[in-house]
Amino acid sequence: MEIGRGAEAVITLENGVVNKWRLPKSYRLAELDEQIRQERTLREAKITSDARRHGVLTPIISDVSRFELQMEHIDGATLKDVINSELSEKAGVMVGKLHLGGIVHGDLTTSNMILVQGKICLIDFGLSFYEKSVEAQGVDVHVYFQTLESTHDHSEELIEAFKVGYTRTYPEAPAVLKRVTEIKARGRYL
Ligand SMILES: Nc1ncnc2c1ncn2[C@@H]1O[C@H](COP(=O)(O)OP(=O)(O)OP(=O)(O)O)[C@@H](O)[C@H]1O
Ligand SMILES: [Mg+2]
Repeated sequence: MEIGRGAEAVITLENGVVNKWRLPKSYRLAELDEQIRQERTLREAKITSDARRHGVLTPIISDVSRFELQMEHIDGATLKDVINSELSEKAGVMVGKLHLGGIVHGDLTTSNMILVQGKICLIDFGLSFYEKSVEAQGVDVHVYFQTLESTHDHSEELIEAFKVGYTRTYPEAPAVLKRVTEIKARGRYL
C-alpha cells in the first residue's frame, strides 16, 4: 500500500515495514541521477541510525540497497496536522540534540516529524549531513520557522516555544538563533 509520495521517493507499507524507493529523475543524466539517488539512500540510512545514538527518536532501518531502504513503520500523525506549542518545544529539544551531535537535518519541516505516543520521531534524512557551523544549523532552524510561518496559524507562539526547547538543550543556541534572524533578513533583501 502506498502511504506517501514525495518529490523524490515513493513510500509504501507492506507487512508492517516501510519501503522508501527513490525515483529516477528523467531531467538528470542517467549516470548522475543514479549517483545522487544512491548517495541520498545511503546517507539517509547512515544518519537516521546515527541520530538515534544522539538521543533523537528515528525509525529503525532494517535494510538498505542501492536506491531503496526498509524501515520501521512509525504509526502516528505528522506534526503538520497536530502541532501546538508543547510539541514545538519538544521539536526544539530534538533539534538541539541533533545539532549537539553534529548533525544537520537539511529538511526540517513538520511533515518530517511524526508524533508517536507523545514523542516526536524524525524522518527523511536524505539531505542531512555532518556539520557544526552556526550557519548550517541556522539554515536548518530557519527552514523549520519558515514551515511554521507558511503552513501554520499562531506561528509566532510555535517559534517561541521551539526556541525554549532548543535553548534548554543546546548551549550554542543563542548564536544560532541570532544567525537565523540574519538569514531571514538576508532573504528579504535578495
Ligand atoms: N517510517 C515511516 N513511518 C511512517 N510514515 C512514514 C515513514 N517514512 C515516511 N513516511 C510518510 O511518508 C511521507 C514521505 O516520506 P519522506 O519524507 O521520507 O519522503 P520525501 O519527502 O519524498 O523524502 P525526500 O525529501 O528524501 O525525497 C512522510 O511525510 C510520512 O508521512
Ligand atoms: Mg519528507
